[in-house]
Amino acid sequence: MIDRYGREIDYMRISVTDRCNLRCRYCMPEDLISVDHGDILRYEELLRVCAAAVELGIRKFKITGGEPLVRLGCADFIARLKKLPGVEQVTLTTNGLLLEENLDALCAANLDGVNISLDALDEDLFRQICGGRGSAAQVLSAVRKSVERGLKTKLNTVILEENAGQAESLAALAGELPVDVRFIELMPIGFGVTLNRASPDALLERLKLRWPDLEPTDERRGNGPAHYYKSAALQGRIGFIDAVSHKFCQSCNRVRLTGTGLLKPCLCYDEAADLRALLRSGCDDEELRRAMEERIYNKPRAHSFDSPRDITEKKAMSQIGG
Ligand code: 5AD
Ligand code: SF4
Repeated sequence: MIDRYGREIDYMRISVTDRCNLRCRYCMPEDLISVDHGDILRYEELLRVCAAAVELGIRKFKITGGEPLVRLGCADFIARLKKLPGVEQVTLTTNGLLLEENLDALCAANLDGVNISLDALDEDLFRQICGGRGSAAQVLSAVRKSVERGLKTKLNTVILEENAGQAESLAALAGELPVDVRFIELMPIGFGVTLNRASPDALLERLKLRWPDLEPTDERRGNGPAHYYKSAALQGRIGFIDAVSHKFCQSCNRVRLTGTGLLKPCLCYDEAADLRALLRSGCDDEELRRAMEERIYNKPRAHSFDSPRDITEKKAMSQIGG
């Protein structure tokens, strides 16, 4: 559907859980109190929301968390979502730790692609950033398996001061494998406010020393705001998602659903429609659709990440889904 600023909203990110098996510094650095299972939308409830979203013109869905694969039945849910009439694409964002054991089910579900978060290849640094759990080797193995299975695979790295030195080795994975490697600017949401942002432009300059023929390409490679660079030496592309330094709100196409059923039109603000309350009060499909339509139509014009006191969203990223 078209919002009041004329943007076409056709993409919804759905957080299926706020729980995670890692503790990334910018997201969930400590054990947060998890939402009770009963307060998280059941898969049946999610499918009702998705059906209403499809009627409003949302055709693409991203399943996120926390870590979505820690929730039992996630692959089954994806299979059901893929079968919902009007759904064109379902992709998954994961930290990769549980990916290998879920690949059969995810491929059988016809998942359209997977974004794997990987912030460092160096194991000490990986543990430092991800809270002492997991390993880069395990994530990398899942990346390779995912590519072998023919899944469209992208890597996501949040750029921090401490992992800027990993940029070349992470980008080199796009030479070895047909994967896009994307560098994400740290956003001042949740624990993101506690860390220093590193510059994506400086990082690009470093990468150009290693791949001098890196040049911008305007190919579209997904639903998102990433802009991409290519090099003859790389199979995949190098992407940048720099929401803070290069604001892309004008072309924003997305809304978010938190695990507890809040429909959030913008990452920056806490305004949301409480779909769980509506669903559990016994609303009919028409009421659900109208509540969603109203909230999506009134999506804010832009974030205000450059003006901290205007950021009203206080939830951690693990509760929102990135
Ligand atoms: N800024 C930018 N990206 C973040 N992510 C989590 N928190 C932040 C933040 N504050 C990323 C994760 C994952 C994606 C879902 O969101 O690393 O790749
Ligand atoms: Fe977990 Fe992803 Fe948050 Fe890391 S960024 S703690 S992997 S949800």
